[in-house]
Amino acid sequence: MDMLNLQNVTKEYEPGKKALKSVSMSVPANGIFALIGRNGAGKTTLIRILSTQLSLTSGRASVDGLDVMKDAQDLREIIACVPQEGRAIGWLTPRQFIVSYLMWRGFSSKEATERFEKVMKELGISRYSDTLNRMLSGGTKRKVLVGMVIASEARILFLDEPTTGLDPISRHDLWSTLSRLKKDRFIFLTTHYLEEAEALADNIGIMEEGRLMSLGTLDELRNHVKYPYSIKILSDYRAKKPRQGDLIKGVDGHIQIVTTEKEARRISRHLIDKKVKFAMNPLTLDDIFYYIVRKPIEGEESNEEEEY
Ligand SMILES: Nc1ncnc2c1ncn2[C@@H]1O[C@H](COP(=O)(O)OP(=O)(O)O)[C@@H](O)[C@H]1O
Ligand SMILES: [Mg+2]
Repeated sequence: MDMLNLQNVTKEYEPGKKALKSVSMSVPANGIFALIGRNGAGKTTLIRILSTQLSLTSGRASVDGLDVMKDAQDLREIIACVPQEGRAIGWLTPRQFIVSYLMWRGFSSKEATERFEKVMKELGISRYSDTLNRMLSGGTKRKVLVGMVIASEARILFLDEPTTGLDPISRHDLWSTLSRLKKDRFIFLTTHYLEEAEALADNIGIMEEGRLMSLGTLDELRNHVKYPYSIKILSDYRAKKPRQGDLIKGVDGHIQIVTTEKEARRISRHLIDKKVKFAMNPLTLDDIFYYIVRKPIEGEESNEEEEY
């Protein structure tokens, strides 16, 4: 059975303005599912619907076979969620905050304390156990929240941008914790970083403007991109759409020609003749993401060999 199953899920916060536009997907139960997309793509909306905090406008969605609307009560027992804007209560310490959460979920005080100590150690923040949350750095605060859900018995975890605001070392620490956890849990996380999805996820979904653009393993996503080479134009030069390939505006604003290897070689010779500065590389994962979420720029088709 699929872990997530969505059929034409639509969400309108205001009439006529759709934050989710008929999203359908099935995600298998193994490991980590990462949903990536830019701000406003609809990631938080989707995670809030699946974790029963927000109702959908139309369509159907289930998590582990439980309908998010009809079976919300049962579903809440097996999930835990860290919201994007989640904050650990400032006037509590991590110990008070996590132990009380675990007791609220049904653990005895002894079990809750044991679980708390284990997770703090795992996250490398034991020394902050009794420091007020409001005195902690942003990264440590974030870890306390993630620690809270990890320490629970929930077998399905929703983490909305768990690593935003973390320094690179904390981010990698959290990645290794999540990789260990995925053996016996399903983790749904959202992120801006394809690099993160690459490091962690078994399945990746790409969202843009309320639509699911692509879903699959990393290799499957790579196969969506027909053209494996990129030529980034660094001079002021009006690039034309190649015979085989597309023109796109890259992550850093430069115009890129994406094309086949053979065509890339030919175009590069032409650019050298024209004294145009450029950089030629195989597509990076960021390029793939941008290629999927951005429509190619409409360029003039070049018909004559000399054009490139
Ligand atoms: N509570 C809300 N009321 C109205 N519009 C909202 C609300 N929350 C989000 N939106 C809108 O829904 C769209 C998707 O937002 P969101 O799900 O937060 O995207 P993401 O998490 O990918 O950044 C955006 O256009 C956003 O402005
Ligand atoms: Mg969000």
